[in-house]
Amino acid sequence: MADEVKSADHVEEESFLKSIINEIIGSPINLILVAIITFLIYKIFQSRKPSPSPPAEPELPKLRKDFTVAELKAYDGNQPDGRVLVAVNGKVYDVTKGKRFYGPGGPYAAFGGKDASRGLATFSVTANDNNEYDDLSDLSPTEMDSVKEWEMQFKEKYDFVGRLLKPGEQPTNYSDEEDEAGSSDKSGGEEKLEEKTKTEE
Ligand code: HEM
Repeated sequence: MADEVKSADHVEEESFLKSIINEIIGSPINLILVAIITFLIYKIFQSRKPSPSPPAEPELPKLRKDFTVAELKAYDGNQPDGRVLVAVNGKVYDVTKGKRFYGPGGPYAAFGGKDASRGLATFSVTANDNNEYDDLSDLSPTEMDSVKEWEMQFKEKYDFVGRLLKPGEQPTNYSDEEDEAGSSDKSGGEEKLEEKTKTEE
């Protein structure tokens, strides 16, 4: 008796499945809908899979050096190590991690290997091929404030490398500084340098 009920259930289930399959096969619209649903389910599952992240570029060794405008020029990201440096308000920053902005083909590539101060203050991203030191003395107080604000942003985000040297200025020897315990801070002696500049002024 129990066996009969079981087989009756089984037959019912089978005919129900068959009727669904017949319904789908019988109508091209249903076939199309099934194909679309299958495709969407496939897409949903595919998007959940973590996409392989691009291999991280090896970090370059930290640079500690002052630069003349001419020396800085080489660091536009086109050299083999791909390092990019940008100067803002007399300070040179290593912006290699922002290479998508300042590196070759980036929206701000004109700043790579350059003193970006004037461009940032005047909203100009066109290349400045002037090889001479720009003392920014003709900028308005508002423009100078803007330069200082940009400087703060660079200081927060990027590693300080050294100073942009005025004509005739001698580079600082940073090798003694590296032996000091405090050299591990991010500013890498930038504060000390600022104090030095202030006392000189
Ligand atoms: C239509 C005009 C502009 C648009 C839509 C625009 C858009 C942007 C966006 C979306 C970012 C942030 C990117 C990110 O953090 O992922 C950015 C960053 C930046 N923009 Fe612009 N920008 C414009 C004009 C300018 C101009 C005129 C300058 C300077 C002259 C400038 C200089 C910068 C700089 C220096 C950064 C920071 C990059 C960094 O984090 O190192 N932008 N811009």
